[in-house]
Amino acid sequence: ARAWRGIVEEYRDRLPVNENTPVVTLQEGGTPLLPATRVSELTGCEVLLKVEGLNPTGSFKDRGMTVAITKAAEDGAKAVICASTGNTSASAAAYAIRAGMTCAVLVPQGKIAMGKLAQALVHGARLLQVDGNFDDCLELARKLSVDYPVALVNSVNPYRLQGQKTAAFEIVDALGDAPDIHCIPVGNAGNITAYWMGYTEYAKDGISTKAPRMLGFQASGSAPIVNGAPVTNPSTIATAIRIGNPASWKLAEQARDESGGLIDKVTDRQIMAAYKLLAAEEGVFVELASAASVAGLLQAVEAGQVPKGSRIVCTVTGNGLKDPDWALAGASSATTVPVDAQAAAKALDLV
Ligand code: F0G
Repeated sequence: ARAWRGIVEEYRDRLPVNENTPVVTLQEGGTPLLPATRVSELTGCEVLLKVEGLNPTGSFKDRGMTVAITKAAEDGAKAVICASTGNTSASAAAYAIRAGMTCAVLVPQGKIAMGKLAQALVHGARLLQVDGNFDDCLELARKLSVDYPVALVNSVNPYRLQGQKTAAFEIVDALGDAPDIHCIPVGNAGNITAYWMGYTEYAKDGISTKAPRMLGFQASGSAPIVNGAPVTNPSTIATAIRIGNPASWKLAEQARDESGGLIDKVTDRQIMAAYKLLAAEEGVFVELASAASVAGLLQAVEAGQVPKGSRIVCTVTGNGLKDPDWALAGASSATTVPVDAQAAAKALDLV
């Protein structure tokens, strides 16, 4: 066995790089595909979690960012820019440092998790809090990248999706074939598009015998694809997917339709319940947006949309540590004790 080298080296022949490309990596990817015992019981299916919160900056964005920044470096870029609900900016900031580039990020003011803000700042990004939502930030970032010498590293940059498709490769490599169903949160709709690219690429090359049905889930207050119209004032506690006009809207619909899947919405209440279930019963601490995949699966099972016995992968996209407020809000408070074994034992109900 040898050490994991990051997704560009591991899947070099399937990515837009050559021997002269200067690879910028934090050794992302190679994340766990973890059996979810309780969710499997609840659904009567074999459910696995693709735990993307274990990437270097704590989300799946690192897969796309290694390729985007690598290509920017190859093109001689000195500066990158992105709009973000927090994870893209954290990832861009870290990879820009590795590449010796400057990084500018535009985030919706007051609507990103504290941990994500901290990541952008600690990596030295120029952070602008915009008095608007994510969709406004993306429009601004696009404009700036056209008019000024900064490379845009949002998922409208095709290299991002190239990198993110490797998660599907890892799943097929681990299982020996594609799962029957893949569940995933949908925000700007890049990731569902990337997974579908990865699955269909492997199927076309005969590495898998099939591609899964893609089930994507938006938050009900931010569900433009489900509603069939942009949402002007998107709202949800899952700030990572608080997006009203996804850039990859059409591609996500294509993934849905070609795979025989669906894109549906789940309420904040369902998202919170799945978040707690994953933490309390699977030992996996994800951020709220990530729980939309499992919330959506439970809903789809309830609605009879999932055959019993299916093999299902749910991507949990980001790490719960980025946004601990929600965990603390629902938790019982800690007990204070003196340095005394008897008092501690009593407080723990051991006596
Ligand atoms: N889950 C998490 C934790 C995310 O951060 C995002 C997107 C998604 C799911 C949705 O993925 O946009 O490809 O459909 N976050 C972006 C950001 C928008 O700026 O970090 P998508």
